[in-house]
Amino acid sequence: MHQAAYRVLESGRWVKGPEATAFGGEFAHHCGAVAAVPCASGSASLIAALRLLNIGPGDEVIVPSLTFFASVSCIELVGATPVFVDIEEEYWCLDPKAVSAAVSSNTKAILGVHLFGQPFSLDLPTGIPMIEDAAQAHGAMLDGRLAGSLGDVACFSFFPSKNMAVGGEGGMITTTRMDLAERLQSWVDHGRVGGSRIEALTSNLRMSEILAAMGRVQLSRLDEWQIRRQEIAALHSAAIAHHQSLHAPRVRPRAVHGWHQYTIRCEYSQELIQHLESKEIDARIHYMIPCHRQPVMSDHPQYSEGSLPVTERLCGQLVSIPVHPFLSEEEILRIHAALIEFTPPQKT
Ligand SMILES: Cc1ncc(COP(=O)(O)O)c(C=O)c1O
Repeated sequence: MHQAAYRVLESGRWVKGPEATAFGGEFAHHCGAVAAVPCASGSASLIAALRLLNIGPGDEVIVPSLTFFASVSCIELVGATPVFVDIEEEYWCLDPKAVSAAVSSNTKAILGVHLFGQPFSLDLPTGIPMIEDAAQAHGAMLDGRLAGSLGDVACFSFFPSKNMAVGGEGGMITTTRMDLAERLQSWVDHGRVGGSRIEALTSNLRMSEILAAMGRVQLSRLDEWQIRRQEIAALHSAAIAHHQSLHAPRVRPRAVHGWHQYTIRCEYSQELIQHLESKEIDARIHYMIPCHRQPVMSDHPQYSEGSLPVTERLCGQLVSIPVHPFLSEEEILRIHAALIEFTPPQKT
């Protein structure tokens, strides 16, 4: 990584150069998209995706509520309205039946989230553009196709905790549509076309050269890291297979999970977190508050409690434990010993 960074520093070409172009090309090739352009962050790529699809005031975008808030704020920030749908009990992604019921004449896109690396179902109403929030889904697959090539447009994050990173903030926007491919670059670069013509209202959402160079090195390691994530996830699932209160995540049929998070369902999540912390094992609840219940959404029609029952029930029960590819055998065994030891509090 550091050699790639030095190369760029010494070249003096710090922005808008060959590294970002090459990173975009290599990323598109890796996931099977027609084109890809690096962005300043995953959030920036989501905003670019919505603007690229011409989404703005008066438009509705269907989105799950069990996600990181950036999946929702991007919709509000372009002036459109998020329409929240409930999730599947088994896989925790948007429920296709709920999506069909939520479609209206104002629906302009479905923004699905491959939550924790689990691909969302593609059994969705046809004729509506589909955006993949693939921020957590590098290397995830459905029906033999990688995240990034499943929807019209896909958005990735390279935040340092993600399956691959860039040594700072970063993201990527990909598309499978030829008609959108040539406009991708323009949407992250002030809407510029052919040097000086501005054809779209956007901003500077670009990634700098040094980060793109580091991203290229990380991308070359992604497949091997994904294999290790699969192995560790399988070991975790085997370790808790017979535990009475820890439920291993299920993988959708015909899918390859990206294992950004290995998330256990447990009714006693607070006690589990405390237990794991006492053993110095990092564990977190994803997510404590569903997006529709966040204070900033209090004016939204779906803010009230009970509007998304499955989401609200699961929220607070999902505990993520380490699954990154650099865990040692000893650390993995220590995690398993702690999980097996966990006893839920007695019900009074
Ligand atoms: C599901 C999801 N969407 C969007 C984002 C936003 O990405 P970033 O933090 O790179 O802006 C994240 C990440 O953090 C995420 O997990």
